[in-house]
Amino acid sequence: MTPSDVKATLSFSDGSPSMDLPLYKGTVGPDVIDIRKLYGQTGKFTYDPGFLSTASCNSTITYIDGDKGELLYRGYPIEQLAVNCDYLETCYLLLYGELPTPTQKADFEDRVTNHTMVNEQMQFFLRGFRRDAHPMAVLTGLVGAMSAFYHDSTDINNPEHREIAAIRLIAKMPTLVAMAYKYTVGQPYIYPKNDLSYSGNFLRMMFATPCEEYKVNPVIERALDRIFILHADHEQNASTSTVRLCGSSGTNPFAAIAAGVACLWGPSHGGANEACLNMLGDIQKMGGVAKVGEFMNQVKDKSSGVKLMGFGHRVYKNYDPRAKLMRETCHEVLNELGLQNDPLFKLAMELEKIALEDEYFVARKLYPNVDFYSGIVQRAIGIPVPLFTAIFALARTVGWIAQLNEMIGDPEYKIGRPRQLFVGAAARDVKPLSQR
Ligand code: CMC
Repeated sequence: MTPSDVKATLSFSDGSPSMDLPLYKGTVGPDVIDIRKLYGQTGKFTYDPGFLSTASCNSTITYIDGDKGELLYRGYPIEQLAVNCDYLETCYLLLYGELPTPTQKADFEDRVTNHTMVNEQMQFFLRGFRRDAHPMAVLTGLVGAMSAFYHDSTDINNPEHREIAAIRLIAKMPTLVAMAYKYTVGQPYIYPKNDLSYSGNFLRMMFATPCEEYKVNPVIERALDRIFILHADHEQNASTSTVRLCGSSGTNPFAAIAAGVACLWGPSHGGANEACLNMLGDIQKMGGVAKVGEFMNQVKDKSSGVKLMGFGHRVYKNYDPRAKLMRETCHEVLNELGLQNDPLFKLAMELEKIALEDEYFVARKLYPNVDFYSGIVQRAIGIPVPLFTAIFALARTVGWIAQLNEMIGDPEYKIGRPRQLFVGAAARDVKPLSQR
């Protein structure tokens, strides 16, 4: 962090002494005011529920310029990564800070593919779940359970343990997600096949059966790889902050990532892709494109509680660059599969068009986010709707682990312990039951 020449001065109208607060400059983005000594010097806390103005850490991994609609991983624009790199190169970049050389790429792929299989006992653990359990419930359990299976990578303070935990998590997530799916549909698990690409292998574990050969479609493989790249990291979002906070207690990496999976599940976060597709399905049932106006009126009526899922973002106040890339992928996949006239895609485009012109959305700077189109792509590939968020979790695992490792490596890191403004009852005496 580079200190700025400028200082912020905090003064109080009641005559209490004012306080100078240091300012730090990032490489890009807003400066931050360092309030760490505020409580010690003034006895006051700051108040910022939802972290609207609070930087919880410094980071070198991902940067979003919400006004420009820009997303950078380690400085590289997402549009360039999506076109020039594959997911494992992106993982390498997020974890180690630079894009790999050809030798580094081959070595990293080797390390990841060597860890794709999961402990055979995990099958029996999985068997304890109901077959109709939500995949995110299963995944939260399976990822947390990894700490019970891989004891040699649970010490968060040991850099070698952190490294091997990172590789294991990236390598095993596709296997676990595919196992969760196969369990739901009652098909045998398909073991990983290490001569396939990361996304090719996942497609095979999802859709192959032991009865016949499975051939990976390169267009679908590339589309899935792009979904993974676009979801790989996204600054200090809710699940990443959860992983950091959870990990800050010194818990093991698998437990911290399981906390991230649990947080991602919510419909305001990763669960939005599932919620968005369900919403499109509901509008379709109401009458499709003809009913878009009626649906929009509901969205704009605050008392209805209806939101346009896949729209809006805390940081992006412009088009989410991931949504643009995802819309492109959507075209490619639907063309490849002969689904050019997919009614849900048409409906999504119509909703987008209306929303982008509507005063309600314009005034609030609400634009489509990545989840608006990712569900349509996934559904076309054959991924069942309840599994969408699990795919997001698979892709985001690298971001979570990179951020967790960055935090542990930061000499300034402390256990996260937010303060509060207490507005409940002050100290009072307990009355005996007979007097209450
Ligand atoms: N539909 C209708 N109104 C909306 C929407 C929406 N999707 N999103 C925001 N608004 C309104 C909101 O009601 C508020 O209006 P007002 O100022 O009149 O009270 C205004 O826009 C600002 O919204 P906010 O709730 O203060 O914004 P936030 O930063 O707290 O929430 C959000 C961001 C993503 C939770 C929200 O936009 C939302 O719920 N969107 C739908 C869910 C969704 O698509 N989530 C995926 C996010 S991208 C993937 C990920 O990162 O996980």
